Amino acid sequence: MVELLPSILSADFARLGEQVAAAERGGATVIHVDVMDGHFVPNITIGPMVVKSLRRVTKLPLDCHLMIENPDEFIPAFADAGADWVSVHWEACRHLHRSLELIAQNGMKPGVVINPATPVDFLLDILPMVHHVLVMSVNPGFGGQKFIPFSLEKIRKLVNLRQELGLQFRIEVDGGVAHETIVQIVQAGAELLVAGNAVFGKGDPEQNARELLAMAHSAEPVQIAPQ
Ligand code: DX5
Ligand code: ZN
Repeated sequence: MVELLPSILSADFARLGEQVAAAERGGATVIHVDVMDGHFVPNITIGPMVVKSLRRVTKLPLDCHLMIENPDEFIPAFADAGADWVSVHWEACRHLHRSLELIAQNGMKPGVVINPATPVDFLLDILPMVHHVLVMSVNPGFGGQKFIPFSLEKIRKLVNLRQELGLQFRIEVDGGVAHETIVQIVQAGAELLVAGNAVFGKGDPEQNARELLAMAHSAEPVQIAPQ
């Protein structure tokens, strides 16, 4: 089942509550929060304090994408702030297994993220621990970048691995998800679709979300019920 996760990175921070509510009316079911530290990525954004404020204005799960070094130091603060899902980068974690355990011990759903240059195969051993795998389809740091086409192959690989291993993790994609790319992304097998610029960049976030979801649903593979 596909879901739309608006990334507030491209929202108007002065009207954050309003903008999130508009995306929610348009059918968004999870809110994606991009946390950047100016070290792991060349940009600085927001942290647990903004998560805490968001927690007061929406009941939707808050999906916190940590683009930071030493994520273990901040995981409890995200839990206290009301985060529901937390993902950490394979490239930022020296002890990824420990970081994923820490997220789960703090009562949140653990996710792992891979940059465009990181192969899916590196995740093999930790796939049973994660609630979601986030495939970056741009180099992290900024909204509004162009989708990197070979990400589609990584999504397909994950679909196959999930089936082979009999696992349940969900497949999320982040970066350049927009009207022009969403159909092929869904056809490749991604089901958690993060979109920043395409929702908040221009026009009405409610209508943008609705249109993106309609396109995603139309591309969804038909599920054949077992007899
Ligand atoms: C990029 C962030 C993304 C970003 C996506 O580093 O992780 O979540 O907001 O933005 P768009 O959808 O504009 O490519
Ligand atoms: Zn993100």
